Amino acid sequence: LVIQALKSAARNERMKHSVQQSTELYPLLLKAAKRYVTGEKRQDAIPIAREFIAKDYQISIEFIGENTTDLLECQRAKDEFLQLIEDMGTLAMKQTVSFDLSHIGLSVNAELAYKHLVELAQKANQYEITLMISMEESSKTSDILDIYKKIASQYSNVGITLQVHLYRTEEDIQQLIQYPGKIRLVKGAFQEPIDVALKRSAELNERYLHYAEQLINANHPISIATHDEALIQEMEQRQYFNQPNVEIEMLYGIRPDLIHQLKAKGYRCKVYLPYGSEWYLYLCHRLAEYPENLFLAVADIINP
Ligand code: FDA
Repeated sequence: LVIQALKSAARNERMKHSVQQSTELYPLLLKAAKRYVTGEKRQDAIPIAREFIAKDYQISIEFIGENTTDLLECQRAKDEFLQLIEDMGTLAMKQTVSFDLSHIGLSVNAELAYKHLVELAQKANQYEITLMISMEESSKTSDILDIYKKIASQYSNVGITLQVHLYRTEEDIQQLIQYPGKIRLVKGAFQEPIDVALKRSAELNERYLHYAEQLINANHPISIATHDEALIQEMEQRQYFNQPNVEIEMLYGIRPDLIHQLKAKGYRCKVYLPYGSEWYLYLCHRLAEYPENLFLAVADIINP
């Protein structure tokens, strides 16, 4: 029930509007969000990114947003990403920029998303920056993969996120392994019908290991993006993290202790740093996937 409520709250425009308008609620929730979000502007994300880089982490920055249906908003989002790439490039940060295709045009049409993606890929290429496309609801998977295949045959600096929980991933991975771009393996954040996706389970973890092994055996660039400690331990025992082309990636503020331990062992570790005024959506997602975080949010709000 709590999960459902948080997921609905994330997408409820009236609720979002009320939060944005409330001079009392807004700063309190923003305080809780700051555990997971670097701030509202890219100028908030960049100094935090530089701190991580100074500690020898890699980073991935996301300007938060999704399902943008207004053409001008899509252009604004694309311009913000261009500026982010420019800022990172000027600072010689040869790192990663992550985004949802539905933030830069896919919810208008696939052509717009592709056109904007080409602009981002060109600019990123100029600065040796990698682009990582996120994966969204299963209703969008085919469109996202079609766009990825088109761009990946021209730009090797563009990668794709694959959700292990989708049954179709077994076939998708066979095709995607043919492209040079990095594959980020995630369990999957969206609730999907049971004939489309597996729930969190031992079987899901087995599939995770299976796909990771396939990619590692093919020496394909892979990002192991999970906070699941038991799964990570299993992969460590199997020596996955000692292989070339393998990195471990976690979301900012989630299991910072665990990524720190892995970093101390010398593995390649990356932190995913989101920013943007849509932090409310992002906060609701993080609370919904792990409702125990609600206690942390309350503590963050109460603590001076
Ligand atoms: P799982 O959900 O099974 O949790 C295992 C354990 O991890 C928990 O028991 C807990 O200890 C810890 N944990 C997990 N979530 C936590 C939280 N919010 N707070 C505190 N502890 C938590 N999804 C997607 O559909 N499309 C995408 O593009 C992306 N992109 C992406 C990038 C990166 C870098 C990461 C790390 C994740 C994503 N995801 C994603 C999200 C992913 O699909 C998944 O929902 C979350 O990573 C949670 O799943 P875990 O693999 O961590 O395991």
